[in-house]
Amino acid sequence: MKPFYLTTAIDYVNGSPHIGHAYEKVLADVIARTRRMQGQDVYFLTGTDEHGQKIQQGARAKGVPTQQFVDEISAEFVQLTKLLNLSNNDFIRTTEPRHKQVVADCLQRLFDQGEIYRAEYQGFYSPRQEQFLQEKERLPDGSWPEIFGEVIAITESNYFFKLRSYQQWLIDHITANEDFVFPAHRRKSLLEFLSEPLNDLCISRPKDRLEWGIPLPFDANYVTYVWFDALLNYYSAVKDLGRWPADFNIIGKDILIPAHGIYWPIMLHALGLPPPKALLVHGWWSVNGAKMSKSTGNFVDPVTFCQQWNVDSLRYFLIREMVVGQDADFSQEQFLVRYNSELANSLGNLVNRTLNMTTRFAAGVVPAAGVAEEPELELQALWAKTRDECMTLVEGLQFHTAIERTMQFVTATNAYIERRAPWKLAKDVSPEGGILLQTALATMSEALRLGSALLWPVMPGAVDKIRGGLAQPPLAKWDGELEWGGRLAGAQLGAVDILFPKPPAPEKKA
Ligand code: MSP
Repeated sequence: MKPFYLTTAIDYVNGSPHIGHAYEKVLADVIARTRRMQGQDVYFLTGTDEHGQKIQQGARAKGVPTQQFVDEISAEFVQLTKLLNLSNNDFIRTTEPRHKQVVADCLQRLFDQGEIYRAEYQGFYSPRQEQFLQEKERLPDGSWPEIFGEVIAITESNYFFKLRSYQQWLIDHITANEDFVFPAHRRKSLLEFLSEPLNDLCISRPKDRLEWGIPLPFDANYVTYVWFDALLNYYSAVKDLGRWPADFNIIGKDILIPAHGIYWPIMLHALGLPPPKALLVHGWWSVNGAKMSKSTGNFVDPVTFCQQWNVDSLRYFLIREMVVGQDADFSQEQFLVRYNSELANSLGNLVNRTLNMTTRFAAGVVPAAGVAEEPELELQALWAKTRDECMTLVEGLQFHTAIERTMQFVTATNAYIERRAPWKLAKDVSPEGGILLQTALATMSEALRLGSALLWPVMPGAVDKIRGGLAQPPLAKWDGELEWGGRLAGAQLGAVDILFPKPPAPEKKA
């Protein structure tokens, strides 16, 4: 199987991480873990974006040296990778020498090739977005859209990258490669944007305006435009590992146009490198129906959330609730609905019943199944269907549906237990009753082993605990683990702490 390289956007270190950052990283982790389960050699990169005006301003506002400022906030993002149980192979910071060197080398190469030229720029600039504006970006009343903040008129000598000369190449590339952007409607918007002529990209900022950046190797009076620097992280991190091109660059919908959809493939092409195979564009989380914002208190901090609940429940909710590519809303109510019905009452309940009944009725040792009658055959058939459907669904990034199907199998297993009612069989002293009891106990633990294996990429911690209870080692690969069989016969089951404790009752309103 081919190696697989995937990346996330690298987060700005001008504020603490929120649930949107957490989602993107968990999504990437679920893809990475799924592919490793399938036997693929996966390399997963994430990191922080640490240069530019926003960062310099943030540090000044706090009155601390910029390096100290970025070190502190980047450390929070590193902490987040641990808290979220991410399986990333590397964490890149754009202030690291290994990255700065690659950026300088790439710039020098493009400069030597004549892809970069110097020119006088006269026009409007948004310090907030660190972006030069065009007349067409004005609103009909002549004002500038709010996202640009205060807009200033400037005249400045700068360096430009010849973006426009690659416009047709990019259009052809996107047209020829249907999979270059996921989902399809984002690809369409990108092509629409490209139907208008592009401007060349200003890639420098004079040092007297911005100090905090990578110096241009051919002119020490300038630093590199932050996007030109940041995008190269995907390449600089793996340049010497032979991993380029990336299979997936995972990003949010706000940074497709123009950064990842236009600058990035053109930069690579001009450098003689292949573009990423696919840009996977996810939607945005709102919180309680509104845009997330610290100032309005509408902000979910993943650290606090994991302390209050647990990381597996957060990962589960994020992947279960959001359709990859679409927006979703985060609310405590909706979280509780999923937590209670799917995690605590369905999966958690199956774990408890399996372990408790095996302990009570078989001294904790999983018996061999004696027979396979209709209830067993039905459950086995549902398993085969669920597993095959899930493999197709995850291939198409439909993780929310794959989880839904798996949970239907868990529910069906609980229904099987009701149907066989081992507590009644335990009272039946006939040989047939004994065989049916053994069969029921064997079937429920086998179904739990299988169903939980499918959930491993989403909840690796919880699933490995379940496996511990079933006397199984942590899951390493799906190969040989997804077939119904008598694998657990003879296993001495252990205890598992309650995985999804019942939430405290909501406070009553007076
Ligand atoms: N530093 C740039 C990315 C450079 S990539 C070479 C940046 N940083 S960011 O911190 O603003 O955003 C990081 C990622 O988080 C982006 O992909 C962005 O879309 C995503 N999200 C930020 N807010 C989000 C939500 N509310 N919901 C989901 N994802 C969100 O952009």
